Amino acid sequence: MPQADPPHVLEIGDGERVESATAWREQRRPRLKALLRQYVYGYAPPAPRRRFDVDEVHESVFAGAATLKRIAIRFPDLPQAAPEIRLALFVPTETETPNPAVFGLNMAGNHTVADISHLSVPAWARERETAAEHLLERGERADYWQVRETIDRGYAFATACTWDIHPDTPEMGLTKYCWHHHGDVPGALRGGALAAWAWGISRCVEYLLEDPDIRDDAIAAFGHSRAGKATLLAGALDERIALVIPHQSGTAGVALSRREATASSGETVEQIATAFPHWFNGYYPMFATDVGRFPIDQHHLVALVAPRAILATESTPEADAWTNPNAARLSIRRASTVWDLREDQTLSDDEVSQEGGSIPDDAPPILHYRRDAEHTMTPEYWEAVYDFADQHLEHGSTP
Ligand code: GCU
Repeated sequence: MPQADPPHVLEIGDGERVESATAWREQRRPRLKALLRQYVYGYAPPAPRRRFDVDEVHESVFAGAATLKRIAIRFPDLPQAAPEIRLALFVPTETETPNPAVFGLNMAGNHTVADISHLSVPAWARERETAAEHLLERGERADYWQVRETIDRGYAFATACTWDIHPDTPEMGLTKYCWHHHGDVPGALRGGALAAWAWGISRCVEYLLEDPDIRDDAIAAFGHSRAGKATLLAGALDERIALVIPHQSGTAGVALSRREATASSGETVEQIATAFPHWFNGYYPMFATDVGRFPIDQHHLVALVAPRAILATESTPEADAWTNPNAARLSIRRASTVWDLREDQTLSDDEVSQEGGSIPDDAPPILHYRRDAEHTMTPEYWEAVYDFADQHLEHGSTP
């Protein structure tokens, strides 16, 4: 079925367009947040009172290059059965404190990001193993996360696992207890796993804002694939995140849902809503076969990050067709108009999209960076992330 072009990012109805950064911020932004919650992700609950417990501090990890803190974010007003969010934070020891930080949402457990004896395998990971899921051992994803290299670049690295916040199943996690605590919202508007994970990222950011080792104007959030979708949502909604790095986030992430014009053959809204209905609210699947009826598209979500920085790291259609890299590139190009409002500039399509190589010294605050790589994270992508972060976290970019 032919799909209409996505609505212009500045359009507020009847063809009228927002013309100033103030109008964007005061009129368009709140409306878009509501539309994205209404049509795609749903609402997350208000955050209940929380407590940050620094349970462990290990001063000499990576041969003394970093200190590891293990923090539990606990919710004292929720029933005891409610899970806690466990955060692992690596702080470089050889830099001047406070440090810029990258938060990465992992999907397999904090113990997988580095082979460090203090990172024990959590009970839920063992339980999942008996439920026929492969248990990842300590440090098994170290090559993927490159924590040591992050430290060497002068960044703190924080991570928490999706499963602490919401299992990747229709069964709800922590947010279920929060909803009960605050009185429920109507079922169809209640957020799914993506909204819950984004909510969890914000709780972790709140800890980082209080940690004296972290610069509160220099917190970046990274996530890959489904975690990339949640990270983009968190970055769009939470203005305390100065830099957002959705990696190969695909459908319901950076990629436009209306993707006909981009000749993309990857995942459709219908496919994602059928395979993973628990990621969304109750309405999203109703539009799955006719995405032209959505009043919004994913470039609106990207645009909510403005004027902060966003680096969408992507693959090529040949290497990772499922994530619709061309639809992601168009989304970034369409969204970039919103950054122009403030800077009195016009970012060209070429300026906001780059094919491989190094990040230029004057990288714009919104960039689609493509490498010919599979659906995973590599040292080359991390290098691009830190080269970009060096520029855009230097003086902070909070609005
Ligand atoms: C599936 C899903 C994608 C998702 C991916 C992942 O392939 O269809 O939308 O991004 O899983 O999280 O790895």
